[in-house]
Amino acid sequence: MTDVLDQQAFRYSSAAEPDLLCEEVPLSELAQEFGTPLYVYSKRQIIENFHSFDATLKSSGKEHYVSYAVKANSNIELLRILAEEGSGADVVSAGELLAALAAGFAPEKITFDGTGKTDEEIELALRANIHAFNVESFEELAVINSIAERLGQAAGHAVRAKVSIRVNPDVDAKSHPYISTGMKENKFGIEMENAREAFMYASRHPALEVVGIHVHIGSQITSLDPFIKAARSTVKFVNSLRVKSGIVLEHLNFGGGQGIHYRNVVRHPLLPKDEFGEEGEYVPSLSEFVGAVLPILDQTGLKIIFEPGRAIVANACALLASVLYTKENSVKKFVITDTGMTELIRPCLYEAYHQVAPLKLLSGATQKVDIVGPICETSDFLAQSREMPSLKRGDAIAVLCAGAYGYALASNYNLRPRAAEVLVDGTDYRLIRERERIEEVAGISKAPVTLPNSSSRF
Ligand code: LLP
Repeated sequence: MTDVLDQQAFRYSSAAEPDLLCEEVPLSELAQEFGTPLYVYSKRQIIENFHSFDATLKSSGKEHYVSYAVKANSNIELLRILAEEGSGADVVSAGELLAALAAGFAPEKITFDGTGKTDEEIELALRANIHAFNVESFEELAVINSIAERLGQAAGHAVRAKVSIRVNPDVDAKSHPYISTGMKENKFGIEMENAREAFMYASRHPALEVVGIHVHIGSQITSLDPFIKAARSTVKFVNSLRVKSGIVLEHLNFGGGQGIHYRNVVRHPLLPKDEFGEEGEYVPSLSEFVGAVLPILDQTGLKIIFEPGRAIVANACALLASVLYTKENSVKKFVITDTGMTELIRPCLYEAYHQVAPLKLLSGATQKVDIVGPICETSDFLAQSREMPSLKRGDAIAVLCAGAYGYALASNYNLRPRAAEVLVDGTDYRLIRERERIEEVAGISKAPVTLPNSSSRF
């Protein structure tokens, strides 16, 4: 989805035995220094992704803002980078709201999403003076109204909550069913048939100010068609709301969901091709996306908000893993690593494809393997039936495009400490989150036996 950098953030060096680099830093050095599992981020790629989104919209001359979906990756250092670049933030919990504020996002560029906001979260967001709540139900509208009224009474002046109502356009995003959100059987939004009533209902509440409409149909969407359908039906609705009910909005929030390339992200003649071949699968470019939806959304004359998460951070991260063992039986070859569904649950949850590339590339025969983790679940795999250069104990590999919904969905399952995170900036790098300590995770103040280093280093 994101436009290609002049020089890819992750690429092989031109040495005879090529090293996989993040910007100018060999990943094998980072694996050695910090151990694995390890998430490594490229600062340059994050900035580039944000600006390729933002600049495409700027060049259209349209009033807009890009509101980064914090759920994709909420590392505070990454949030600081995006806040500094002028991004807004789309949050879904008190934790994300507090992190966004601490990172320096302007409250007037913060939106609050989610089907189940608690009373405490609503109060917190009202106190923080955020731009708008994206509201998902009639009942939520009434609750936000009553909390705003209560805060107003306590403050001695009226408090009005800005709300944007999330509509469900009943469009199939043609993504994985678990990350499709815009169909009637999904829990999200209010169906179009009831949406006018919801806007009327909201406008009758004195402590609500109806400022926008919100639509988000899913994630990792790789065709333009669903976006176009959702844009058309939203625009039709906004125009009829204005004409028939006299409700005039300020903004249209079109959500996120733009898909990215997960295949052939890193290329080298020594790397086996995947079954999609040299070109990889088709994913519309950012300019194709904007070119397709903006002229439609523009018919409303409203300010436009987009909420991309994956398109900003996914390809800016490689998850490094070390090979612990290899083994084979009569039907399969397995490469067992120190990294699995606890660090990247996407393959297990959605059978998602992530490219896997060795940190040091050697010529030689390739073989088809399952790359799996150490967790006691059959679904604990990083890659299945993948043609790979031969790997042995002590080799390190990178799982690419792990920046979105990687660390964010990491867990302590099997009492594993969450991995460390490192940010690369040119030739510099620094730790932006320490590896969790086993004692912390296990809830013990002191380990009963002396602990060796908890991460793999060979
Ligand atoms: N806005 C709303 C209301 C959302 O629910 C989401 C993501 C986004 C924006 C950002 O979507 P993105 O641009 O990142 O596609 N764990 C899944 C993805 C879940 C997406 C949840 N909502 C995965 O790993 O693919």
